[in-house]
Amino acid sequence: MAIEIETVAVLGAGSMGHGIAEVAALAGYDVAMRDIEQDIVEEGYGQIEWSLNKLAEKGQLDEEADSVLARIETTTELDAAVEDADLVVEAAPEDLEIKRDVFADVDAAAGPETILATNTSSLRVSDIAMATDRPERCCGLHFFNPPVKMDLVEVASGEQTRDDVVEAAIEFVESLDKTPIYVRKDVPQFVVNNVLTPYMGEAAWMLDDDASEISEIDAAMTFKRGYPMGPFELNDFGGLDIFAHTREQWGDPVPESVSRRIDAGELGRKSGQGFYDYEAGSGADYE
Ligand code: 3HC
Repeated sequence: MAIEIETVAVLGAGSMGHGIAEVAALAGYDVAMRDIEQDIVEEGYGQIEWSLNKLAEKGQLDEEADSVLARIETTTELDAAVEDADLVVEAAPEDLEIKRDVFADVDAAAGPETILATNTSSLRVSDIAMATDRPERCCGLHFFNPPVKMDLVEVASGEQTRDDVVEAAIEFVESLDKTPIYVRKDVPQFVVNNVLTPYMGEAAWMLDDDASEISEIDAAMTFKRGYPMGPFELNDFGGLDIFAHTREQWGDPVPESVSRRIDAGELGRKSGQGFYDYEAGSGADYE
């Protein structure tokens, strides 16, 4: 019998967590969104409200923002979040030990049938799943930022993931009106980040070599190649610290143009300054 998903718990209310909670609620699921501190949960909930109002303003919402919000419960209690969930999506910080701890705690608190999915962007599913007694019910569900706007979701198997768990995860993604890409082999970074990380890295090496300018490289990829964002704009968007952390995790060197900015606290959009100056309003206008 196929696995049914009706209730969803999202662990983490940061940019990915609150976005995943929002898309699940938009698709009609009852969602519990949990983070470790009340102010983080409130900040995430506020971001969902902002996003829903933005969609409503543009006529992109089929119902009142409040009725979507009514399907989202917030909590700081892990047990309360996961005890009734058919699917738990973990969107904790990108650190193997943190994710393993979260998975072990969820394994103890959730029902035996619950599927545990990780939104990891750079780790192996199996390395996280092996912290549980149910690695066959664990998988990767990798959303992209911002989840409400990005159509693609990677569904990834760990070494022991059962076929019916993969099928349920794929159906869940389709029910969100998003497109699943299935990653059969348990490779770190799945498909997209395996391509995007070198894309941003190669551009930064060119800058280190003084081969071209930030605006020239971004313009080449957006205007000539049709990418929605150039490599520097994308790095600012995701956060330079996240990019550097991903590279360091697998022993890859971090380009000097990135590490210098991180040392100066210039992490991208979230800090107001990265390769571009957002506070000055220059954004990525290729000026
Ligand atoms: N909810 C609602 N509205 C939102 C929003 C959100 N979460 N985020 C942005 N918007 C709004 C903006 O405020 C803007 O509103 P305005 O027109 O009133 O100013 C509007 O959406 C812009 O929407 P458009 O579709 O017109 O804009 P774009 O065509 O520029 O699309 C984009 C925006 C979808 C972000 C596009 O630039 C894009 O696709 N960028 C690439 C993003 C990407 O590659 N993400 C993946 C990063 S890698 C990753 O996530 C991996 C992970 O592991 C870290």
